[in-house]
Amino acid sequence: MASAFRRKITGILDFGDIVYSYAIADLAIAIAYVVLDKSDPLSAAASVVRGYQELRPLADDEIASLFGLVLLRLCTSVCVAARQQRQRPDDEYLSVSQGPIAATLPALAAIDFDVAEAAFRNARGKTPEETLAARRRVIGPNLSVSYRRPVKIVRGWMQYLYDQAGRQYLDGYNNVPHVGHSHPRVVQAAAEQMLVLNTNTRYLHDRLALFAERLIATLPDPLRVCYFVNSGSEANELALRLARAHTRRRDVVVLDAAYHGNTTTLVDISPYKFNGPGGEGAQPWVHVLPLPDTYRGKFRRDDPRAGEKYAEFARHVRNPGAFIAESAPSVGGQIILPDRYLASVYAIVRAAGGVCIADEVQTAYGRMGTDFYAFEAQRVVPDVVVLGKPIGNGYPLGAVITTREIAASFDNGMEFFSTFGGSTVACAVGLAVLDVVEEERLQSHAREVGDHLLAGLRALPDRHPLVGDVRGSGLFIGVELVRNRETLEPATTEAADIVNALRDRGILIGTDGPFENVLKIRPPMPFTREDADLLVRRLDDVLSS
Ligand SMILES: Cc1ncc(COP(=O)(O)O)c(C=O)c1O
Repeated sequence: MASAFRRKITGILDFGDIVYSYAIADLAIAIAYVVLDKSDPLSAAASVVRGYQELRPLADDEIASLFGLVLLRLCTSVCVAARQQRQRPDDEYLSVSQGPIAATLPALAAIDFDVAEAAFRNARGKTPEETLAARRRVIGPNLSVSYRRPVKIVRGWMQYLYDQAGRQYLDGYNNVPHVGHSHPRVVQAAAEQMLVLNTNTRYLHDRLALFAERLIATLPDPLRVCYFVNSGSEANELALRLARAHTRRRDVVVLDAAYHGNTTTLVDISPYKFNGPGGEGAQPWVHVLPLPDTYRGKFRRDDPRAGEKYAEFARHVRNPGAFIAESAPSVGGQIILPDRYLASVYAIVRAAGGVCIADEVQTAYGRMGTDFYAFEAQRVVPDVVVLGKPIGNGYPLGAVITTREIAASFDNGMEFFSTFGGSTVACAVGLAVLDVVEEERLQSHAREVGDHLLAGLRALPDRHPLVGDVRGSGLFIGVELVRNRETLEPATTEAADIVNALRDRGILIGTDGPFENVLKIRPPMPFTREDADLLVRRLDDVLSS
């Protein structure tokens, strides 16, 4: 056999193109042809870079020059082909690549060099599948991952996220990066303070009182005393302790489908958890009121007294210690409460001796467009306000603001201390976030863009029977999907399909509500009218298909 091979020609090596040059040029040329006619050329290029590096890792300067070389190769090809075609117009072979190059080169040229470089650098890392497998080996299994094809995000900028292939996603979901992912003002405030000092509230530092003063200034009287903690859960825990210390009662009144946090007590007051998978039902001291949902609940939008009627259920609770509710229930399905609901419940609960807690973890800082806090649209003043997610823009920060009377009841001799709450860095971050919200006028921006987005979404029910309801305020929006507009049968699987199809089209939103059939749109606040148009267009496409 071996001798037979020796006598036959099995291949030809063309040494004609061999030059002594940079090795990266080879990779650039390969990529230049792989990306032609690809719908997402940068992802295709990043895949080649990843494969190449399994055998030969690239140096930093090679990665930095790669994208430019790819473009250069394609430009050279266009020029050479143009000249050769003039010399030999009948030779069709000379233009085989020119059609695909003409189609792809403008898309490539529109990609920011920094984004391409980042995509190539990240192509050194694990694939999403490998990352998922690694996580499954060592992380608790009930930590969920969004989307059937999970996204591996490596960078964020304002209302955009980027995966490791450099693909851009429009973030229509995340409310924690309130003023925008990686907002430079917030990053700088954190980094500068971290460089100098990060310590706790047992030492004096000016920013603690300054941040509290600024926060209190956003709230009405008599909410004048602040506590700082690290998360929404910790803040709700503290709110319950304040209420119990003040009323000396244990019973808590909550709304159906609510979620208030991940601690033992908060799971006990979160029907979303204790009535959900793995839940053990309501404790005897927890009283659940129906969700005042005027789309599918007992009292609907055509009833001008729906708010008062839903509130009447609170009368059945004897000796309430606290009533706690999101001022616009987000986990319940992006619900806008009917007029006078909170005013009526608060009146009933207070008359029975209870304290009213507003969980503003999802709704604070201008998101609703009309007001700085969602409770303001209901024309009430809570006894305790709970803040979380947006106030640190991703830095773990929670706050509880209450009245002097309640704070005095809590001051019973037992010290309150949270190691990281109100730390030097936390206060620097909190102040920077407030500055940006005010200076960039994000509340009025949310109102303007939110109105525009709602108007676009409200055109969908006419074209798509699946869209049962569009509701919201500012950049807090829900689109409820139903299989039948009479029975309101929830379109749960369809909602999941739509969210996944949008993810594949570069738009990230989520689902929520007791039936997981409400599309949840709650983007970072820099979200623009153009982003809104894109979201509506893509949602329209997905619904059509
Ligand atoms: C309304 C509401 N309250 C409280 C929490 C708990 O906040 P954290 O996850 O920061 O503990 C959440 C979290 O999703 C929430 O949505």
